[in-house]
Amino acid sequence: MFDFWQSLLAALERIAMLPSLIQSAFRLPSRKRVRGDAAGAVRTYDRTMDDLLREVQRLFEAPLEPAKLLAMSGKLQEQFAPKLQASNICMLPSYNHKLPTGLEQGTYLALDVGGSTFRVAVVELTGKQPGSKSMRIVTMKSYTIDNSVRILRGHAFFDWMAEKIECAISDPQVKMINGATSLPMGLAWSFPVEQTSIRSGNLLDMGKGFRATEGLLGEDLSELIMAPCRKRNLPVHMDSIVNDSSATLLSRAYEDPSTRFAVILGTGFNIAVHLPTKALATSKFHGYPQKWLDEASHVLVNTELSMFGKNVFPTTKWDDYLNETHVKPDFQPFEHLISGRYLGEIVRLIIVDAVKTAGLFSGELPQKLDEPYSFETGTLAAMELDESKNLTQATSIFESRHPCSKPPTYNDITFVRHVSQLVSHRAAAYLAAGIHALWYLRTTAEGLTPKSAGRLAIGCNGSVIEKYPLFRELCQSHLDELTTLSGAEPRSIALEVAVESAIFGAAVAVSTLEASA
Ligand code: GLC
Repeated sequence: MFDFWQSLLAALERIAMLPSLIQSAFRLPSRKRVRGDAAGAVRTYDRTMDDLLREVQRLFEAPLEPAKLLAMSGKLQEQFAPKLQASNICMLPSYNHKLPTGLEQGTYLALDVGGSTFRVAVVELTGKQPGSKSMRIVTMKSYTIDNSVRILRGHAFFDWMAEKIECAISDPQVKMINGATSLPMGLAWSFPVEQTSIRSGNLLDMGKGFRATEGLLGEDLSELIMAPCRKRNLPVHMDSIVNDSSATLLSRAYEDPSTRFAVILGTGFNIAVHLPTKALATSKFHGYPQKWLDEASHVLVNTELSMFGKNVFPTTKWDDYLNETHVKPDFQPFEHLISGRYLGEIVRLIIVDAVKTAGLFSGELPQKLDEPYSFETGTLAAMELDESKNLTQATSIFESRHPCSKPPTYNDITFVRHVSQLVSHRAAAYLAAGIHALWYLRTTAEGLTPKSAGRLAIGCNGSVIEKYPLFRELCQSHLDELTTLSGAEPRSIALEVAVESAIFGAAVAVSTLEASA
C-alpha cells in the first residue's frame, strides 16, 4: 500500500507544477464533518477541512499553468500601451537617462521614505576597486513610521521629516564628515511622484495609509521637504528625487552593468525599467529641457506596476472581499495579490472562513484574527520556514501571536501552512507574469527579439522577495519557463538581491547627476 502511494506521489510530482503542495494535500488526514468545539459541544460544519483545502488549492493553483501565465502577461502588455501614451499616475518617466558607470565617487546624505520607516544615511561611493566594497553606509538612523506618523496631514508630515533629518545630521560623525558645507541630498520616495526635474517632482496620491497629500496634492515634493529644513537652518540641499524602485535599479546597476529592471516587493510593490525613450509618447516628456531630449536615448521609468492587473489576474472570493473592503478599492490591484501588506490578510480571510465553515481551530477564532490585517506576512513566512515533522516551531510562532482557547492541533497548523504556501506561490507566479510582460515590452522597444535579447539582471529589494522562503526561487523558475516559452535563451533573466538598495540608490542618483553635469 505504501509503495502504491509512493509511486502515485512520484507520478504526481512529475506532472504537478508545485509538487510539494500536491504532495502535502494528499497527506492531509481526512476529517469528519462533526467536531467538538472548544467548549466540548458538538457542532456540524458545512465541509471538512480537506474539502476546503482542496478548493483553495484548486483556486490558487489553476491559474499558474505556463500558458495561462503567458496569457496574463499578454493582457498586461495591452494595459501598458495606453498608459505609455498618457497617464500621470503610472509609467512615469524620470529625468535619469543614464545608468551609472560604477565609477562615480562621493559622499551623500541619502533619505529613504518607506511605508514603515524613514531612514537617513550618509553613504559613501568609492567606485569599483578591487577587493573593497564600492558602496558603504557610513552612518544611518532609522525612524519608525507608525500609524501616528502615517496619519499626519499635509505639512505636518514634512515637518516630522525635517525634525528627523535634523536629529540624524546632528550626529557627531556626520558633522565631522560634513564640516561647514551643505550636504548634497538624494531622496528615495516609495510612492508615485511626477518628476518635474531631476531634483523635484509633484506629489501624487500616496497610498499605504498616508495622509501627507491632504491639501498638498500636486505640490513640489522637494520644496515641501526643503522648506521645513530651511526653517531649522539645516545644512542640506535636495539634489535628486527618485522612486524607490528606480533607486533600486540605480544601486544595482552601479554594481552590475547588465541591470535593466528593479523589483520592489515588501509592504508595497513596484518595478522600474530602463526603456528606450521612444517607448513612451512624446507628451510624457512635456516640460523636459531640449538638451535632455536631445541627449536621452533611454529613460528610467517608474511603472507603478501595482496599479495594473485589474481583470488580468484571476481572483478568488477572498481577494475580491479584500478589494471591496479596502480604503482604495482597485487602486493597486496587482499589489493586493502579491505584496507583504496583503499576503497575510488573504490567508487571514481564508482562516476566518475555515474556522466558521470547516471547524479549523475547533471552530474558535484565535486571538486578534477577527481584526483586518492582524495576520502578518512575517508570521506566514516564519511558519513556512518550519519543515520539521511535528511543526513545533510553526505552532509556537502561531500561538505566541494568536493565542487560542484550546491549543492548535497539528492539522490546524498544517492547514495554515498549506494555505500560506498556496497564497505565496501564487504571488511569486503572478510576479513572474508581470516581469515577463515588462521584459517583453522592453525587448520589442529595443528592436530585439526574445532570442536576441541577451542576458539581463533585475535588482530585487523588499522583505518578501528577499526573505520570504523560496519566493525568489519560485518566481525565477516561473520566469525561466515564461521567457523560454517566448523564445529566449534559458536563464536570460537573473533575479538578484539588491541589499539596502533604496538608500544606496538615492546616493547613486545624486552621483550620476554630478558625473553627467
Ligand atoms: C507602492 C508605491 C510605489 C512604490 C512601491 C514600493 O506601490 O505606489 O511608488 O515604489 O509601493 O515601495
